[in-house]
Amino acid sequence: MTQTATFKIWRGDGQGGAFKDYSTTVTEGMVVLDALHQIQAESANDLAVRWNCKAGRCGSCSAEINGTPKLTCMTRLSQLNLADPVTVEPMKTFPLIKDLVTDVAWNFEMKKRIKKFKPRPPDADGRYLMAQEDVDRVQEFRKCIECFLCQDVCHVLREHHMHGQFIGPRLLVYTAALEMHPLDTEDRLPDLKNAEGIGFCNITKCCTKVCPEDIRITDNAIIPLKERVVDQFYDPIRRLFRVLRK
Ligand code: SF4
Ligand code: SF4
Ligand code: FES
Repeated sequence: MTQTATFKIWRGDGQGGAFKDYSTTVTEGMVVLDALHQIQAESANDLAVRWNCKAGRCGSCSAEINGTPKLTCMTRLSQLNLADPVTVEPMKTFPLIKDLVTDVAWNFEMKKRIKKFKPRPPDADGRYLMAQEDVDRVQEFRKCIECFLCQDVCHVLREHHMHGQFIGPRLLVYTAALEMHPLDTEDRLPDLKNAEGIGFCNITKCCTKVCPEDIRITDNAIIPLKERVVDQFYDPIRRLFRVLRK
C-alpha cells in the first residue's frame, strides 16, 4: 500500500489556532505518529508532537484522532479511512501548550494529594503473606501508562471542567490500586467522597472504552470504590455502629 493521505492537524497554542491540511505519502505498517513525523520532516518543521517510546508504553503521544482519544503510536493508518482527511488534534481536557502538546501536570498534582501506601506490620516471621487472588486483583490497575486518555474523554472533566472537585478515572484507578492492596491500612474513603468527588462519576464507561491497556476502569475500579463509600457513609447499620462507638 503506497498512497497519498491528507491529515488535518490542529496548529496553534493557548491563544487560538486552526486546522491545517498536510498531504504525505503513506505506506503499509505506518501508524499516525509515523505520519506526523514525516509531515514534520517534509513540510512542518515546527509542528509540536510529544512522544517517547513509539511502543504504547510511555503514554506521552495521546491525541484525538478523528475525534476519538487515542495513542498516535498505536493507531495504524490501516484502521482509518484514508479516502477522507484524518483529523489529529490535542486532548481537549487539558490546557494547550502548542499544536498537539497539552499540559497534563494537573494529573500529577492531584496524584500527590492521594494518601500514600501504608502497609500493615509484617507477620511474626517477618514476612508479608498475601492471598494470590488479592494480589491479582490490583495487578490490572498497575498496567496504567498514564496516557490520560480516560481523563480526556470523561465528561465531568471535559465538558463540566470540574478539575477542582473530581480527580477523574485515572486517579480513581490509582486509588483503587492502593485501597484494594491486601497490605494497605490507609482509609481513603472520606477523601474519595469529599475532595475527590467520586459521586460525580455516573458510570457512563466512556473511560473504559478508550483505555489502551484495556483496564476495566469502571467495573473493576470505580464501582467497587463507590460501593465502599456507600457502605461506609450511607449504610444505616454501619452508621449506627459508628455512633455507638463514639
Ligand atoms: S464512567 Fe465515570 S469516570 Fe468514566 S468517563 Fe464516565 S463519568 Fe467519567
Ligand atoms: S487508566 Fe488507561 S486510559 Fe487511563 S491513564 Fe491509565 S492507561 Fe491511560
Ligand atoms: S510514544 Fe509512548 S505511548 Fe506512544
